[in-house]
Amino acid sequence: MENRKEILVTGGAGFIGSHTVVELIQNGFDPVIIDDFRNSEEVILEGIERIVKRKIKVYRIDLTDYNKVREVFKVHQFCAVIHFAAYKAVGESVDRPIKYYRNNLNTLLNVAELAIEFNVFEFIFSSSCTLYEVPLDCAAVSEKTPLCEPTSPYASTKKMGERILNDIAKTNPRLKILFLRYFNPIGAHFSGFIGELPQGRPNNLLPYITQTAMGKLQELTVFGNDYDTADGTCIRDYIHVSDIAEAHVAGVQWLMEQLPNTKEVINLGTGQGKSVSEIISLFESITGEKLNWKFGPRRAGDKEQIFANAQKAKKLLRWTSRRSIEEAISSAWKWEMKKGSPSVFICYEKAQQKGTCF
Ligand code: UD1
Repeated sequence: MENRKEILVTGGAGFIGSHTVVELIQNGFDPVIIDDFRNSEEVILEGIERIVKRKIKVYRIDLTDYNKVREVFKVHQFCAVIHFAAYKAVGESVDRPIKYYRNNLNTLLNVAELAIEFNVFEFIFSSSCTLYEVPLDCAAVSEKTPLCEPTSPYASTKKMGERILNDIAKTNPRLKILFLRYFNPIGAHFSGFIGELPQGRPNNLLPYITQTAMGKLQELTVFGNDYDTADGTCIRDYIHVSDIAEAHVAGVQWLMEQLPNTKEVINLGTGQGKSVSEIISLFESITGEKLNWKFGPRRAGDKEQIFANAQKAKKLLRWTSRRSIEEAISSAWKWEMKKGSPSVFICYEKAQQKGTCF
């Protein structure tokens, strides 16, 4: 274990963070999490530890607290930082812009400043496809697609985050930065031990669907059916969270091979778009559940359709998404049904002992 490379994962107890921690460990790295669990729960940590069968290094620290974060940098020798920690609810960011700017920017500034002080030059930043201006011909968006004016404070923090790191890189030429622009991560680890854990009412489509099917929520509203798409509903590029996690491992490995002064933007998507109606039909056919849903008005700020051109990730990172949309949806459902329940751990472990499928 001593020779494993330590990687700081901020927000490592979150949705994408927790799946990435698993993949990092399974690929020989030693992740160290900083997360104050404001958007996660202990069950996620337990789930990670069950999957990887070891204790995880975690600091329950608010990343806006510079001095506390500095103490962590002092005791570890990180070779890279993956900075996930951020608020991400678009609607809330419109209502509470100061909360979003304060948290998302201060955490980034602290982590970036400390990375430089402690000679950690490899940096991965969680960015978003929301930055793109969707082309008029609705073609897949590549990293060369022009950016739009941010439509929410959340989107602004992502755009500013990229800008801040680009500016920092100008005076710190040893930095190597990878901006990963995510499309729509969904699903859960196949074990059923970790998955998405929205606090309160979910904003995103998949957890809304699974919680409605479970009866925790009454009804799903599909935001708009008058878009200029085949069935009138919005199109997104839904990608399995474990594929996204694997891309981070590929990203760290790739950064390690690069010369100083590297900056790259890479899309993480499947290249396939699915409409909201298609996702509902898939959910119903995969799970056999009848979903209670209705059409409602459009949601402010939604793009009509967006999906990735994922060629650059394939070329540079030698990464491509490999899990199907069916796998993603069924894993999200399995997680919803079992999340946090002790029986899921027991079933998984019994299946592993017997060498059977879970
Ligand atoms: C949004 C953000 C994205 C951000 C992501 C993180 C925008 C344009 N996109 O993605 O930047 O990284 O959240 O959380 O701001 N839908 C319904 N009913 C629901 C929920 C969603 O119909 O109850 C529809 C939406 O209208 C959309 C699709 O489902 O068409 C996906 O929505 P969602 O899961 O919220 O993701 P995005 O809006 O694509």
